[in-house]
Amino acid sequence: MSKISVQLGERSYEIVIEPGVLDRAGAEISSMHRGGTVAVISNPRVAGLYASALTRSLDAAGIPHSVFAVPMGERYKSLSTCRKLYEHFLDIKLDRAGMVIALGGGVIGDLAGFTAGTFVRGVDFVQIPTTLLAQVDASVGGKTAVDLPRGKNLVGVFHQPKRVLIDTNTLKSLPKRELRAGLAEVFKHGIIHDQYLFDFTRDNAEALLNAEPTALEVVIRRSCEFKADVVRRDERESGLRAILNFGHTIGHAIETLTGYSRFKHGEAVSMGMAAAARLSAVWGYCTQDACNNLITLLEAAGLPVQLPSMERDSCLAAIQKDKKRALGTIRMVLMKSIGEVFIEEISTEKLASAFKDTLQMQ
Ligand SMILES: NC(=O)c1ccc[n+]([C@@H]2O[C@H](COP(=O)([O-])OP(=O)(O)OC[C@H]3O[C@@H](n4cnc5c(N)ncnc54)[C@H](O)[C@@H]3O)[C@@H](O)[C@H]2O)c1
Ligand SMILES: [Zn+2]
Repeated sequence: MSKISVQLGERSYEIVIEPGVLDRAGAEISSMHRGGTVAVISNPRVAGLYASALTRSLDAAGIPHSVFAVPMGERYKSLSTCRKLYEHFLDIKLDRAGMVIALGGGVIGDLAGFTAGTFVRGVDFVQIPTTLLAQVDASVGGKTAVDLPRGKNLVGVFHQPKRVLIDTNTLKSLPKRELRAGLAEVFKHGIIHDQYLFDFTRDNAEALLNAEPTALEVVIRRSCEFKADVVRRDERESGLRAILNFGHTIGHAIETLTGYSRFKHGEAVSMGMAAAARLSAVWGYCTQDACNNLITLLEAAGLPVQLPSMERDSCLAAIQKDKKRALGTIRMVLMKSIGEVFIEEISTEKLASAFKDTLQMQ
C-alpha cells in the first residue's frame, strides 16, 4: 500500500494505492463525508464489474448513495451528458453536503469531476480510477473538462478531488489495448522527468501488460508522485505543468481529426510523442539516437508511432483550436533527452514546413 500526498494548502488530498481498496472505499471517505447523498458516476461496463463492491462499502459506512451509468465512450464526455447528470443530481437532492464519486476511466473522471465542480458552484469529489491511464494520470491534479464537437477538453474547471482511491485489482479486467494506452502516459512521465521510470516500464512491459500488481504499483506510485509534485508547484498550469502535455499537441489533433473513436487517448499520445521526438531531433534539440530509442520502445510495447494520414492544414487548424496555443505561435513540449523536456513557442510557418518535410503530411 502506498499513500501520496498532493500538497495544495486547503485543497490538499491523499492518493491511496492499494489492491482491494475499493472494498473499503466507504470507510476511506466517511471522515470527509458531510452527511448528504453521494452520486456515483460510472458506465455500464465498469458499474457491472465494480459498483456493487463500492455500494456495499458505502452501505456499511452508512453513506446514502445512488449510481448513474453514462453510456460508454469519449463522445459522451459532452455538455449534453452533463445536463443529464445535473438533472440526476436534482432528482436525488444532491447538495453541498453531498459528494460525487467517479468510478471508471478518464472519461468518467473528467465528466464526473466537471459536473461536481460546476453543480451548485462545486460539490466534493472523489476519484476511483479503474483504467491504468486514469490511475497514472487523469485522476490526479484536478483538471476536469468535457469536449465540444470542434475540440477536446474545451470546457472545463480545475476541481481537485478530496481523495483518489487506486485499486490495482480493477486493472485485471481491463483489456490489453487499454493497458497499453495507459503505458503511453507512463512512458510520457519517464521521458519528461524520470529515466528510472522509463527504464522500468521498458524492462517490465510484459508484466505490466499482464496486470502484475507489484510492477503496476511501482509505475502508478512513481507516476502519481511525479504528477503530484508538478501540480503542487503549478496547480493551474501557468508554466511548469504544461510539460505534462508532451505528445499531446499533435495527439489531441489526431483524436479530433479521427472523431475521437479510431484511437485510444494513450495511442494518440504515443503517436504525438513519436512526432514530437522526430521534430526535436530534426530541429537539433535532441540526438537522433534519443529519438530512435523512444520510438523503438513505444513500438516494442505495441503502441502506434506512425501518424495516420492527415492533411497538414487540418492538423494545424486542429492544433490552433486546442487550448494550449499561445497567440500566433504553437506552444510545444520538445525533448532534450529521455528524462528531460522543455517548452518552446514554435511559429506556425516552422511547424507547417516540418509537418511536410519531417512528418510527411500532405
Ligand atoms: N483530467 C486529466 O488530467 C486527464 C489526463 C489524461 C487523460 N484524460 C482524459 O481521459 C480520457 C481517457 O481515459 P481512459 O483512457 O481511461 O479511457 P476511458 O475512460 O474511455 O476507458 C476506456 C475503456 O475501458 C473501460 N474500462 C474502464 N475501467 C475498466 C476496468 N477496470 N475493466 C474493464 N473495462 C474498463 C471503459 O468502459 C472504456 O470502455 C480522455 O477523455 C482524456 O482526455 C484526462
Ligand atoms: Zn493524456
